[in-house]
Amino acid sequence: MGPEVMEVTCHILETAGFDLEIVKPLCGMEAFKAQGNAFPDEAKRLCEESDAILFGAAEGPSVAILVYLRWFMDNYINLRPVKYYPGALSPLKNPDGINFMLIRENSEGMYPGREGDISWLARKMPDYKDPFDRTLDFYGEGKFALRLITRKGTDRIAKYAANLARERRAQGFAGKVTCITKSNVLRQSCGFFQKIVEEEVKKTPGIGYEHFHVDDAARRLIRFPRDFDVIVTSNMFGDILADEAGEMVGGLGIAPSACLGGRNPYFEPVHGSAPDIAGKGVANPTAMVLSAKMMLDYLGMKNEAQALEKAVAKVYGEGKHLTADQGGTATTKKMAEAVLEKI
Ligand code: NAI
Ligand code: MG
Repeated sequence: MGPEVMEVTCHILETAGFDLEIVKPLCGMEAFKAQGNAFPDEAKRLCEESDAILFGAAEGPSVAILVYLRWFMDNYINLRPVKYYPGALSPLKNPDGINFMLIRENSEGMYPGREGDISWLARKMPDYKDPFDRTLDFYGEGKFALRLITRKGTDRIAKYAANLARERRAQGFAGKVTCITKSNVLRQSCGFFQKIVEEEVKKTPGIGYEHFHVDDAARRLIRFPRDFDVIVTSNMFGDILADEAGEMVGGLGIAPSACLGGRNPYFEPVHGSAPDIAGKGVANPTAMVLSAKMMLDYLGMKNEAQALEKAVAKVYGEGKHLTADQGGTATTKKMAEAVLEKI
């Protein structure tokens, strides 16, 4: 479904007359079918040379693109705004005023999966004892997954979070960092993450700090959604909480993101390729459009970014051209046309 929301988003950007040169390299499933390679060298070159990258969603062979943009370009910050636009179909009774940023560490933690057979690990680490004083061969057949939380990876995401809270404070937001871990169980890895974030935030004058365990945080998001300003968390928790947070403000059809900090940033919806609705022309284009809005902000095109966001807000406010996920009957194209008209 990536190409469907991408097509209408590019149409909006091009037709609105924004000063952008958009190049559309052959990649993804189309390239895979034509050349047996979802990410040809020409597409890679264009990604490297452009000022920013707009990305749809990956599945199957297209995951190679995501791996390149995320890990090889080292875009370690996954910034996911959670903002309610009145008119969006939230499951909450009162979603008004929800407006916070979720920062997901994008480069380490449980991803990319580093897994294997427990028997292999048991042979490599014969002396390792778990909290129950058992060696790994006690457990017999099974799999393990490694979770890496590094000094470098945590330092840089902590700095970004503290700085974002400082910037938001200047804009009138609370200026508070909420660190989310599971340090009561994962005392070393989560404990390390928590300590570094706390130290970094405390170095930034005027910024508030709090910490919640991820299970408690999942609940608080729903119960107290207006209490959050800047959330920072490790990769997998951020992946999961971002879908939950997206749902609170109307669903994955609305949730955008920016992946920053590396060689060249890319902007993509939180959602995936939505195989259940792909090809039907009914996907909500908002997440993709708002990701483009984040790209415009990054490029310094503040007026254009604002025009795009205001147009989206008006379409929700009027509620006449919304897609099925928002309780409407509009197609992807129809909703995009409505946004364009508002610009
Ligand atoms: P998904 O995000 O694709 O879909 C979850 C649910 O949300 C589905 O019911 C879908 O119809 C709905 N949804 C998503 N976007 C929507 C939109 N724009 N409008 C209306 N409804 C929307 O997650 P799922 O089903 O777990 O994954 C599908 C595929 O996408 C998998 O292959 C997965 O690996 C991949 N994926 C890729 C991501 C990426 O490229 N960054 C992120 C998440 C998943
Ligand atoms: Mg996800």
